[in-house]
Amino acid sequence: MGDPLLCARAQEVADVPSPALAALITDMRDTMAALFGAGLAAPQIGVPLRVVIFGAPTMPRYPDAGEVPETVLVNPVIEVLDTDEDEAWEGCLSVPGMRGLVPRYRRIRYRGSDAEGRPIEREAEGFHARVVQHECDHLDGILYPMRIRDLKFFGYESVLFPEGVAHKGPASTDPS
Ligand code: NI
Repeated sequence: MGDPLLCARAQEVADVPSPALAALITDMRDTMAALFGAGLAAPQIGVPLRVVIFGAPTMPRYPDAGEVPETVLVNPVIEVLDTDEDEAWEGCLSVPGMRGLVPRYRRIRYRGSDAEGRPIEREAEGFHARVVQHECDHLDGILYPMRIRDLKFFGYESVLFPEGVAHKGPASTDPS
C-alpha cells in the first residue's frame, strides 16, 4: 500500500494466450502460495495488467471460507446480481498485518477468460463473490481500506484477533 501502481487502473491483456501471460501467472501462483493468500491480482506483484487468480485446493488460513474454485481470470468483468451487501473482515497481502470490515455485494456474475483464452462465466455468492470483488478492485486501483465504512473497524490483525485469524469466525475472510 502506498505504491502508485496499486492506485492505478490496470490495462487489458491484449494477447491471450502468450508466454508472457503464462510466466506472469506462474509468478502470481508462487506468490499467492508462499503468502497463503486466497487470491492475488497482477498489480500486487508490480504488473499493471488485468489478471487475477483466486481459490486453492486448500486454504489453511480460511478454514470456514467454503469452496472457491481455483481460477485464473483474465480481463474480468463483474455484474452485480443482488445489490444487497454483506460485511465481513478482509485482509490483503498488500496491506500486511491489518484487517477491516468491508461491505461487498452478496451475489455477482463474473466473466473473463482463462490463461488459454477460453471464456469463463460464473455466478458466485458469499466468500467466492467477496474474493472476486476484492481481486478485481485491485485492477481499478482500489484497496479494501477505501471501502471500509467505519474506520473503527480497521486495525491490526494481532489486536483485533489476538487468538489468531483462524478464530475470527465463519463470516470472516482474507482474500489477498
Ligand atoms: Ni488484496
